[in-house]
Amino acid sequence: MGEGRIELKPVDSGPSTNFSMLAVAILAAGKGTRMNSALPKVLQKIAGNSLVERVLASCSDLKPDQYFLIVGHQAELVREKLVNIPKLEFVLQEPQNGTGHAVQQLIGVLKGFEGELLVLNGDVPLLQPKTIQKLVDEHRSSQAGVTFLSARLSEPKGYGRVFADSQGKVEAIIEDRDCTDSQLLNNLTNAGIYCFNWKKLIKILPRLSNKNQQGEIYLTDAVAMFDKAMHIEVDDPNEVSGINDRIQMAQCEALLQRQLQNYWMKRGVTFIDPKSCTLSQECNFGSDVIVQPQTHFQGNCLIGDGCHIGPGTLINNSKLGNNVKVLYSVIHNSKIGNEVLIGPFAHLRPESKVAKNCKVGNFVEIKKSTIGENSKINHLSYLGDAEVGCDVNIGAGTITANFDGERKHQTTIGNGCKTGANSVLVAPIILGSNVTIGAGSTLTKNIPSNSLAIGRARQFIKEEWFDPDRDQN
Ligand code: UD1
Ligand code: MG
Repeated sequence: MGEGRIELKPVDSGPSTNFSMLAVAILAAGKGTRMNSALPKVLQKIAGNSLVERVLASCSDLKPDQYFLIVGHQAELVREKLVNIPKLEFVLQEPQNGTGHAVQQLIGVLKGFEGELLVLNGDVPLLQPKTIQKLVDEHRSSQAGVTFLSARLSEPKGYGRVFADSQGKVEAIIEDRDCTDSQLLNNLTNAGIYCFNWKKLIKILPRLSNKNQQGEIYLTDAVAMFDKAMHIEVDDPNEVSGINDRIQMAQCEALLQRQLQNYWMKRGVTFIDPKSCTLSQECNFGSDVIVQPQTHFQGNCLIGDGCHIGPGTLINNSKLGNNVKVLYSVIHNSKIGNEVLIGPFAHLRPESKVAKNCKVGNFVEIKKSTIGENSKINHLSYLGDAEVGCDVNIGAGTITANFDGERKHQTTIGNGCKTGANSVLVAPIILGSNVTIGAGSTLTKNIPSNSLAIGRARQFIKEEWFDPDRDQN
């Protein structure tokens, strides 16, 4: 497996640098019956991005003139997810009569087109851009009608088999279901990634038939109809793994995770137990980060130098400064400053900002709140919709009562405040700076700076309450 990360950058990356025209078609109309899912197969995700997004990203370096996405099964849903991608045109295939039928839908759309058509299966998500570049380059230099990627697999079941001579000249592709027993012994498989000379393909497409075991129009049948068809065997078969069921999806996820982790390990990140951790494509790390077992990074994460994350931690779409330590905690859409200590068992919910040198301890939940520098929320607290100043000590069990049953309200806590254990701050409420709150208080009114506030029932003592004569039995 290639060690480079594929950048999932926007598809439109400037003017085409290729001298001859290149169009890309991604086949994404199939249902993906073998997935047994309500979601179309190409929208299934690995490492946080859908299969079709990955396929699009894998060819964006080629700067094609136009992308076509062949959609059919749940076309609207697929379109909705990808509608903002520039240069992407959706082509409807209705009904879905096979991969050849899918490409036939381009006959009208690409009228007069004279360049190459790169066809990518929407369910082959691990392709490296350099492999596609090599395919296009070799196709252009060999002048073949079609050149496609092949792979020798130890377990070729399910894949079309490639019958070719030793020079790479192809006679035919025969689908797994249509192979004879002896043909099935051939382990050279079709990867589903083709570069066609469009002018030659357009003459062949109408001649494809559906006389096969599935009764579908196969794109693979086109290969035998060209004067010259070539294949290029990929160096790493993992790159062209197709996803037809959830077992193959898990295998691809594992391959991608290894690839991402190797990439970051080479750049100074330690994974104590890589197999138990997952990363997203958009995750970025500084140097000397230590990732403990059972730790997961999702979405867009930026983890600063020297952070220690985990064990047992989930970080989603969040930015952590340098030397942050997070232990058994969950952080969503939040921003954490340098030297902050989080956990064990803290939950930072979206829109939380914790400034440098803070401590967020055990069983603390923070939501949509800003915590100033050097503040401590060490135990058993909930802060929601709160603005907390610097050098604040939030006592154990302090709660912001931010919800009145209908609306959320704001709590403001000034610099240097100290809340006693089990304080309830009923929002909206403002505490000035250097306020001290007595333990067990329920506070409903604003408190001026430098005051002590206590809001609890007075302690009452009745002596001699225990009467040995009455209470004994
Ligand atoms: C296909 C190839 C097979 C190859 C394998 C590589 C054919 C006939 N077979 O088999 O030789 O080894 O990929 O992974 O091409 N699709 C449409 N419209 C349709 C049917 C499918 O757009 O009517 C799309 C699917 O959404 C999918 C892609 O084409 O993204 C491939 O279809 P799939 O059914 O997975 O083909 P395979 O059986 O994997
Ligand atoms: Mg497939």
